[in-house]
Amino acid sequence: MIMMSRREEESIKYIKIENSNGQELIKLIHKKFKNQSIIDNKYKILKEKGYILFPLIKNDDLINLLIELLEDKFFFKIISMKGTYHKNYKYKNIKEALENKIPSKFIDLIPNSYDIIGEIAIIEFDKFQGSENQELNSLKLQIAKAITEGSKSISSVFEKKSEIKGTYRLRELNLLYGENKTETIHKENMCIFKLDIKQTFFTPRLVYERNRIANSNIKGNEVIMDLFAGVGPFSIQIAKKHPVTIHSFDINRIAYNYLQENIGLNKLMGIIIPHHINISALIDPLNNLGSILKHKADRVIMNLPEKSLDYTDIACFLMKKSGGILHNYQFCEKPNSIEKAQDKLKFSLKELNWQIEEVLKSKIVKSYSPKSELVVHDLKIKSIT
Ligand SMILES: C[S@@+](CC[C@H](N)C(=O)[O-])C[C@H]1O[C@@H](n2cnc3c(N)ncnc32)[C@H](O)[C@@H]1O
Repeated sequence: MIMMSRREEESIKYIKIENSNGQELIKLIHKKFKNQSIIDNKYKILKEKGYILFPLIKNDDLINLLIELLEDKFFFKIISMKGTYHKNYKYKNIKEALENKIPSKFIDLIPNSYDIIGEIAIIEFDKFQGSENQELNSLKLQIAKAITEGSKSISSVFEKKSEIKGTYRLRELNLLYGENKTETIHKENMCIFKLDIKQTFFTPRLVYERNRIANSNIKGNEVIMDLFAGVGPFSIQIAKKHPVTIHSFDINRIAYNYLQENIGLNKLMGIIIPHHINISALIDPLNNLGSILKHKADRVIMNLPEKSLDYTDIACFLMKKSGGILHNYQFCEKPNSIEKAQDKLKFSLKELNWQIEEVLKSKIVKSYSPKSELVVHDLKIKSIT
């Protein structure tokens, strides 16, 4: 919701009817237009010597329908005049907030949504198609200002400047407006995460997925390995609800530091043991941690969608040979992304002499790009040897 502090009043259409017909008009509108709003709630309803004036949305087709509907019902007049905004009207989105403030040719360039991580909004201008000029840059600034004006909790707005890339899965970000501070505290599913948006991976778009995993059938005393833990959102949300032991690994020293801090910030039922390590090292016979954790896991989480298949050997190395549950995330091409991802995983497991005993759940978590989707498979797997 966007709440604007400064408003420029503009000319809109009102329907003017006698006071006594007010209720009847509302009933007729509700019946005819159902949930489609024809009264513009941004503006105040006005009263004028025995008459009431309802502000109408800017849609001549709908207004014509309304005229047809009322023609032989009662006296009315459609008049144009300056609208008076409701003092505390909350705009539904950035487009609505900027509707009368920017040239109409720019309205379609405004992104429909943005991510919020703690006090920071992160926005992508995918419709600008790489074109940068002063006009577009000032539009970006107006959008960023509208976002901060719309929410007291947002103190800065950053623009996505690259894809997520590299081993640490980070992206370039550019401050558009507000405080140049990249560390923040994000709340998700009753847990708290301190993180740095530039130096650690975090996406709020997995909020439902993490909730699903944390609420799945996890038994007390399970040993869980979170192979790509980041600042700990999967591990912490699971340990918040279950008396389990979780080994949480990350190669990024900064993510590991935040993970340690986040373990302390949350009241947990389970125990989380963070490890700053490249998980490939675990399989080395000389690696002490690897020897201790070998075939100890009841459950393994693999949330590195672009490369999780490269680490199937590590997942099998850690999983109990008698069997356990694997949560495997992959980006896979459409169509049939679920089947494709499952075939690849099955093949990868077979090469290591492991097999799928049962598919507990397979689903598309979200769209990733025009061509691919994020897919998760929850599988019971076991060793064949
Ligand atoms: C996609 S992020 C997921 C983080 C976390 N699970 C989440 O939901 O926010 C993947 C994480 O894996 C870490 N990573 C990548 N390769 C790794 C490796 N070989 N060993 C350990 N961690 C690795 C990255 O640093 C990054 O934090």
